[in-house]
Amino acid sequence: MEKFVVHGPCRLEGEVTISGAKNAAVAILPATLLVKGKCHLENVPDISDIRAYCKILESLGSKIEYISKNEMIIDNSEVSSAIASYELTSKFRASYYLLGALIGRFDKVQIGLPGGCKLGARPIDQHIKAFKKLGAKVIVRNGNVYTSKTEPLKGTNIFFDVVSVGSTMNAILAATISEGTTTLENVAKEPHIVDLANFLNSMGAKIKGAGTDTIKITGVSELHQKSSYSIIPDQIETGTFMVAAAATKGNVLIKNCIPKHMEPITAKLIEAGATVEEFESDIRVSMDKRPTSVSVKTMPYPGFPTDMQPQFSLLLTLGDTTGTIIETIWESRFQYTDELNKMGADISAHGTTAVFRGVESLSAAPVKAHDLRAGAAMIIAGLCADGQTEISDIHHILRGYENIIGKFEKLGAKIDYIKTEDDE
Ligand code: EPU
Repeated sequence: MEKFVVHGPCRLEGEVTISGAKNAAVAILPATLLVKGKCHLENVPDISDIRAYCKILESLGSKIEYISKNEMIIDNSEVSSAIASYELTSKFRASYYLLGALIGRFDKVQIGLPGGCKLGARPIDQHIKAFKKLGAKVIVRNGNVYTSKTEPLKGTNIFFDVVSVGSTMNAILAATISEGTTTLENVAKEPHIVDLANFLNSMGAKIKGAGTDTIKITGVSELHQKSSYSIIPDQIETGTFMVAAAATKGNVLIKNCIPKHMEPITAKLIEAGATVEEFESDIRVSMDKRPTSVSVKTMPYPGFPTDMQPQFSLLLTLGDTTGTIIETIWESRFQYTDELNKMGADISAHGTTAVFRGVESLSAAPVKAHDLRAGAAMIIAGLCADGQTEISDIHHILRGYENIIGKFEKLGAKIDYIKTEDDE
């Protein structure tokens, strides 16, 4: 078994550099399949979801040359298979982008259903609706999604029933190589959607409006290869360090981020009493008092991101009165509050609302990383607590944060990585 042991309490101080965005990279890697040639990608995060994606691409026939841990050239000229097994796809969520990426290039595609963090129901009906509207046949059977088409996909109008990152991305991928114009309405506007559109446009796609409610895609017959594209910095990793700095009453300069993407988090941090200074591509966060208890409601971008609520909850856990979080995206994203209660927090979570009666301090306990962001919250909790907090199930954390121990240790934390013999 792998675990982290966080030695607390610790005040974070110093500088940390943000890696490439996980949720952009996991769409851009499969997007390279739209090109029968090479794509050179930079600022790719070195995380286990990306390693899992590379394995799938290689199983399809991609040749990947690793230039450094964050830079690779993917050559898809020899890709001959459009079949990815459930065993590979079920390891993470973003494997569903293979559908959108392969549907234009192959008449028949078979992709295992995706996995990912357990945050409640994670349907893919909107993805399927988009593929069907574009003219593909879609069947879900025996753990796989099968798509087929007898002629090129045709431009159409798609109105999404819910604002969904994944189905917006998948519809963009599928409509890029098609005939005619596709209009996507009620789409997600997250920074990673804009990054995917920028990447595809840099290879000859015609996508307009990414980052707004309506995206228009004029289909093209092929894309050209890409000499180099650098993935945007990770909004959620940035937010995680911003909150960690504030929760530990520290002072941290977070480098290589996009302050504009951080606005909903910055605003809440200021409301909670932190000082946030923005520079061109850096943000400094400091805090020298007990947090003010605030109310948070998660919303699609540009609202407060659901992927930041477990980490931000530490400010409410340690807040001066009572604060609340309302989760509007995922139906069961409060499992981590039981872990915080083991550490002395006073949180009641019912359905999609959690009430945080602020406590003055936390004390170490054995806790579990229920999912990726909950795991990041456990690290922050461990940094705020007295004693040694043991965090189990850390594979969730390693899926999405590059060199997380190294980065926290550079800020003064002491975190041990322990692998016990039953793993050997
Ligand atoms: N939804 C549907 N039908 C669909 C798709 C989604 O009803 O076909 C619903 C979901 O049940 C949810 C809402 O729409 O209630 C939003 O889901 P969305 O499709 O936006 O989520 P996702 O694409 O599966 C991505 C991120 C998540 C992040 C959400 C919301 C990736 C790989 N994952 O998931 O990130 O929470 O968007 O921002 O991009 C994480 O990084 O830790 C993570 C969980």
